[in-house]
Amino acid sequence: MIDTEEKILVDHVPQSHNVLTEVIMGLSRAQKSLPAKLLYDKKGSEIFEEICCLPSYYPTRTEFKILRDNAREMVELMGDGCLIIEPGSGSAEKVRILLKAMKSTPRYVPIEISREILLRTCRELIEEFPGLGLTPVCADFTDDLPLPLSVSSQPGKKVIFFPGSTIGNLHRDEARDFLKKASRLVGRGGGLLIGVDRKKDVDVLLRAYNDPEGVTAAFNHNLLERLNREIDASFVLENFRHEAIYNEELGRIEMHLLSLLPQLVRVSQTVFRFRQGETIHTENSYKYSVEEFVTLGEKAGLSFVRSWEDQDGLFSVYYFENR
Ligand code: AVJ
Repeated sequence: MIDTEEKILVDHVPQSHNVLTEVIMGLSRAQKSLPAKLLYDKKGSEIFEEICCLPSYYPTRTEFKILRDNAREMVELMGDGCLIIEPGSGSAEKVRILLKAMKSTPRYVPIEISREILLRTCRELIEEFPGLGLTPVCADFTDDLPLPLSVSSQPGKKVIFFPGSTIGNLHRDEARDFLKKASRLVGRGGGLLIGVDRKKDVDVLLRAYNDPEGVTAAFNHNLLERLNREIDASFVLENFRHEAIYNEELGRIEMHLLSLLPQLVRVSQTVFRFRQGETIHTENSYKYSVEEFVTLGEKAGLSFVRSWEDQDGLFSVYYFENR
């Protein structure tokens, strides 16, 4: 087996004191909230992968089909043999479709917060794509980290691949800033291939985040379990109920944990009071019409090249360039 460990050039795994600070800040607000990225620890990422297979959760299978059906054309636009950078690469299932469609030896920079997942994925990729130019980066891509020189100095076209509608986690202005940063990172002539969920029938949206199997509820509850374990919190899981609503005005699904009774919860040294029915806002999932998203990209200084969609218009993949 090839040891990819030494290839990890940047290693910035978050410290738990940052988690404690963020949690105390979030729970101190009038509308209590927790940073969505805390949902994605090892267990949370595993539950999320289960969500992706649920019949009611349409985004994953829809985006896969869009990528499979159009990989050739996407790779032609991106440039065969370009350097693909993927923030939050996880198990890198989707990028394999693009890597397979390339004729020249591809180069790939996965950026992943979980060292374990990053290493496992790299081992698999090296076996699957002999000769692949692989530069793994273990980091939280939401931090503002510069890429290692060995990435930024590579010649040729750079393209950021950001599938899964992960950008939906961000507020609109944050999303615009992310696109600006992406544009700067790939430089003039570089590109951005990004998958984004669309506005649609509210019932379809609600079903995707309130699955009858209860997997999304377990995903939400795992956040509390994690805080109990990692920062010495005293959440009683049964006292909170998963809730996902569509905020029409802001065009986003909101996940909450609703307190079923008046209660006190300790987080390390601090005690928080919950009213009955009060919620902790745990995640946003913004939805964009094609027009809205193209406008957002252009506002970030990117040039829209083209987009692809499924036949039901549930999901879109966009290609932008920094011209
Ligand atoms: C990973 C943010 C794209 O918003 O659909 C799915 C997260 N949360 N079900 C989404 C999620 C609950 C997912 N994103």
